[in-house]
Amino acid sequence: MKISSHAVARMLGTWQEGPGPAHQRLSDRLRLLVLDGRLSLGAALPSERDLAVALGTSRTTVGAAFRTLVEHGYLATQARTRATVRLPDDTTPRQPVGTDAETIDLSFAAPAAPVEILHAAFASALEQLPRHFERHGYDRYGIAELREAVARWYQRRGLPTRPDHILITNGAQHALALLTRVLVSPRDKVLIDHPTYPHAITTFTHARARLLPVAVTPDGWDTEQLRAAGGDANLAYLIPDFHNPTGMCMSTSVRRQLRLPCPTIVDETMADLALGVADPEPLALHMPTAVSIGSVSKSVWGGLRTGWIRAVPSLLERVEKARPTTDLGTPVVEQLATAVLLNGHQTQRPDALRQLSTQRDALRQALAEHLPDVHAPQPAGGLTLWATFPQPVSSRLAAMAPDHGVTIAAGPRFGIGGAFERNIRLPYTLPPSQLTRAVTRLAQAAQAHAEGATGTHTPPPIA
Ligand SMILES: Cc1ncc(COP(=O)(O)O)c(C=O)c1O
Repeated sequence: MKISSHAVARMLGTWQEGPGPAHQRLSDRLRLLVLDGRLSLGAALPSERDLAVALGTSRTTVGAAFRTLVEHGYLATQARTRATVRLPDDTTPRQPVGTDAETIDLSFAAPAAPVEILHAAFASALEQLPRHFERHGYDRYGIAELREAVARWYQRRGLPTRPDHILITNGAQHALALLTRVLVSPRDKVLIDHPTYPHAITTFTHARARLLPVAVTPDGWDTEQLRAAGGDANLAYLIPDFHNPTGMCMSTSVRRQLRLPCPTIVDETMADLALGVADPEPLALHMPTAVSIGSVSKSVWGGLRTGWIRAVPSLLERVEKARPTTDLGTPVVEQLATAVLLNGHQTQRPDALRQLSTQRDALRQALAEHLPDVHAPQPAGGLTLWATFPQPVSSRLAAMAPDHGVTIAAGPRFGIGGAFERNIRLPYTLPPSQLTRAVTRLAQAAQAHAEGATGTHTPPPIA
């Protein structure tokens, strides 16, 4: 696959920022794009001359950067062909240095299972299961019990919903992928929050859509900008309820005014995770054409792998017809257990929300103590802080943090065009003592980076 000079320039973003000579900054940024998976293995880079023109820099700078990458094993060159992306032969993770325990994983924003609650839900599901034995067990819309339970969940939130408005999926990501399959064609424009959930970015780009990013700033969502971009878009994808990664919640006034002119997917995966603020009104209450997706992955446990789409029956029918190319339905036991959890209001447990608030506060306090230059505003809910460093260090820190016993998700994974190099997402889904230990390790990594250390770790999987 050939990559154009303009595509590489877009991915590099503001590579010229930062200390050191230009060729070193350029080779550093290109190396991080390889490690991050944004430049895929085997991809053919543009010629030195084309890239120099696209970047507005000299051919000498690009040539020196390419030579460094070849020396370190990140590029393969052959006479008269384009340089191709590769990985050095030895990228096996090194043993963490100066750490006293296993690596702490801050790349997944997902809670551990509430053991007793899940046990009880599965015990009840197993009792109900024989009811289903007479049928074949394939149900592309999902079982009636769960469709009814999800419809009631919406009704409790003030949004009238019938079971035939619901299609059950294997998690919210599956819901998004199915909707993308039926709603997005190559070259369509898709409006996204910026930053946004990384697997949404890859889902839309794999569908060959063009992304229209609209900033989610510390002040929230901007109605005017959203409307303007929505006028040009074929689809919008928004996370108004405790947005991943910032934890922000769209204000009631924006919700009430915002009527986008394009079809809109509203991701409500975090909707039940309000931390000390009022539960938000569902956006679909004010935008009746909105299609909502959700799951219990963040409010109960990701391992259940159950989620849903709420839409008009005619759209659900298109999804149901498109589904068999990848799967033929969701496991019945998990659906029954999820129905028990939803009917028992277990997606909004006051004790779990209190614990999350305590963890969030412990994480912010540890940051204030060990990384005082890092700014991490208090999120209204959800599972993550969106931390801002004074320098664009995020990808470099992520590539070296495992050497110090912690994995993190770098900011550019949540955006396009190399944005968010000053940010990292930090989940508060671990106990306070572990979060504090993780931050001390991150501070060690930041110190080592300031002293010139580099890392070669490939980005961890995230959710
Ligand atoms: C905003 C958002 N949407 C969807 C998902 C995927 O959820 P699920 O695990 O239900 O597939 C996630 C998981 O991180 C998420 O944060």
